[in-house]
Amino acid sequence: MQLKTLQKLELPAAADMHVHLRQGEMMDVVVPTLEQGGVDTAFVMPNLVPPLTTVDQVIEYQGKLRAIAPNVHFLMSLYLHPSVTPETIEKAAQAGVVGVKLYPQGATTNSEHGVANIEAFYDTFAAMEKHDLVLNLHGEVLEALAPEGTTLEEAFLPTLKQLHERFPNLRIVLEHCTTAAAVEAVKACGSNVGATITAHHLYLTEADACCDPFAFCKPIPKKPTDRDALLKAAVSGNPKFFFGSDSAPHPITSKTSSAQGKAPAGVFTQPYVTQLVLLGLEEGVERGIISEEDLTQEKLEGFLSKFGRRFYKLPETSGNSLLLERKGEKIAPSVKSESGSVEVGVSRAGAEVFSLTWVRKA
Ligand code: NCD
Ligand code: ZN
Repeated sequence: MQLKTLQKLELPAAADMHVHLRQGEMMDVVVPTLEQGGVDTAFVMPNLVPPLTTVDQVIEYQGKLRAIAPNVHFLMSLYLHPSVTPETIEKAAQAGVVGVKLYPQGATTNSEHGVANIEAFYDTFAAMEKHDLVLNLHGEVLEALAPEGTTLEEAFLPTLKQLHERFPNLRIVLEHCTTAAAVEAVKACGSNVGATITAHHLYLTEADACCDPFAFCKPIPKKPTDRDALLKAAVSGNPKFFFGSDSAPHPITSKTSSAQGKAPAGVFTQPYVTQLVLLGLEEGVERGIISEEDLTQEKLEGFLSKFGRRFYKLPETSGNSLLLERKGEKIAPSVKSESGSVEVGVSRAGAEVFSLTWVRKA
């Protein structure tokens, strides 16, 4: 399809398989933006303060999210920590928790309690394999451990391979993959290894992320050729690659008042997440990286909705759909709480995007 000139399209409601919804007032502001951006199924990250390391904490958090957005299906995760034992995994499986997120200690926002030695968790991974829980990887090594000339993500890829070889039946997601090498590494693994691709990594590169705090996130956007590899993977029709926005809100003041290079990592895309994926693809066509023929209804539906649901063993459709129409709408600069005390800047503010209307199943 010719997205650039298309006036109207209909898509199934998006499944966003990597979201940060935070807590407190920030949560109250951010959770409603899921549906604003066309999402009715979301895999929720556990990097709260304190991190969600017990099943009871996860279930309590899920209750709070459901109270704010009763029409969204929240898939929940635990934060991998020494207290997450094989017994915890059994309890998590019974409670319907679907994944466990591994943050290398110190790699990103709220990862202080993360993993220092992956091998110490092999018993936990074996239990996850047995109970069919997904292992969600923040696939980066610490800066001190990356060899010269290699990105933090590329240096992590041998670990992905080792984990897959050691636990061949464990479902693994390499979250927010950002490099051509990661795309290839995921393809080389079996069908139970997939990867999420964000909206923002389809349009940002290191040149944006270095200098604009609203484009700064982990993993850092990479070279144009890496971005282009992600665009190709997103429209490849390969079900290993599905959408996970990694939309990560931070107070606007923390982004604007921090010294250059010190702003917290995270790009906020949630209120326009479906439209931002379409914008990234549209720009990919304009640059000649992907073609109009790549943008079929089937491939868009696969990437934005079906493949993620399939990986997480959900029905392939929720029955809800989205009507997207060109009406000259522009991305608002920020979203705010009623009192104005919480405000979050949105990625690509001012860009013209499709307007979104829900078509809910009867
Ligand atoms: C995320 C956050 O702010 O929680 N930040 C980010 O840049 N993506 C954490 C993460 O997913 O790395
Ligand atoms: Zn994230």
